[in-house]
Amino acid sequence: MIELHNVHKAFGSNHVLRGVSLTIPSATSLVIIGGSGTGKSVALKCILGLIRPDSGTITLDGQDVTKGDRDAFLARFGMLFQGGALFDSLPVWQNVAFRLLRGSLKRPLSEAREIAIEKLRRVGLKPDVADKFPAELSGGMQKRVGLARAIAAEPEIIFFDEPTTGLDPIMAGVINDLIREIVTEMGATAMTITHDMTSVRAIADNVAMLHDGVIKWTGPVSEMDHSGDPYLDQFIHGRAEGPIEAVR
Ligand SMILES: Nc1ncnc2c1ncn2[C@@H]1O[C@H](COP(=O)(O)OP(=O)(O)O)[C@@H](O)[C@H]1O
Ligand SMILES: [Mg+2]
Repeated sequence: MIELHNVHKAFGSNHVLRGVSLTIPSATSLVIIGGSGTGKSVALKCILGLIRPDSGTITLDGQDVTKGDRDAFLARFGMLFQGGALFDSLPVWQNVAFRLLRGSLKRPLSEAREIAIEKLRRVGLKPDVADKFPAELSGGMQKRVGLARAIAAEPEIIFFDEPTTGLDPIMAGVINDLIREIVTEMGATAMTITHDMTSVRAIADNVAMLHDGVIKWTGPVSEMDHSGDPYLDQFIHGRAEGPIEAVR
């Protein structure tokens, strides 16, 4: 469904993506792993067309993502941002229904609110949360609100950027399980960025490891533990010793 072919992106002399090629089949869940600063978020932003690659192609259903109707293109995506990125000044329900209150996906106010409450329930939050403000919620609840917002417009494709960062292990487990359940029940195509190996095992059908600007290894999650790839092994086991420089 999504295909990256030989994608390059540099910022000045910082050559971040050095020929990334990757295929994400429809209705599968891909998790991208790799150290901080390796270009995972940049790759995601390239797919969304927020950053333009220097060379290479990215297609969605065979269509170049940089061409065509941007609004229609983005309407197909849901996104859970790193750090939540909720709007502080809006009550929870308006955060969840954000895209249903404007633009091409606009619905009547009462319907948007109903959908928001239904999505909040789906992520385990009670209707009384709807009228609270983000600052009144715990980190785990904010993450759930972000998740409810990502699925509010029932997108075909959902991106999760570091969904468990900053959560305790139990809350991280709850969020991982929710992501897996929701992606499966929606039949959505999912791409998750993480360096949390527990997330990888909970969420992934397929795994891709980004290192030195290229995909060093990719394959089904079941093959991750006996890949024989020294980079992947070092990352999975969090070893200081190995081919990946620990000083960055
Ligand atoms: N808009 C930008 N302008 C300049 N440099 C950027 C920009 N976005 C990302 N970078 C650089 O690209 C590299 C990869 O960043 P990023 O994709 O955010 O890493 P991560 O793998 O942790 O998500 C970093 O060195 C970062 O400083
Ligand atoms: Mg990132």
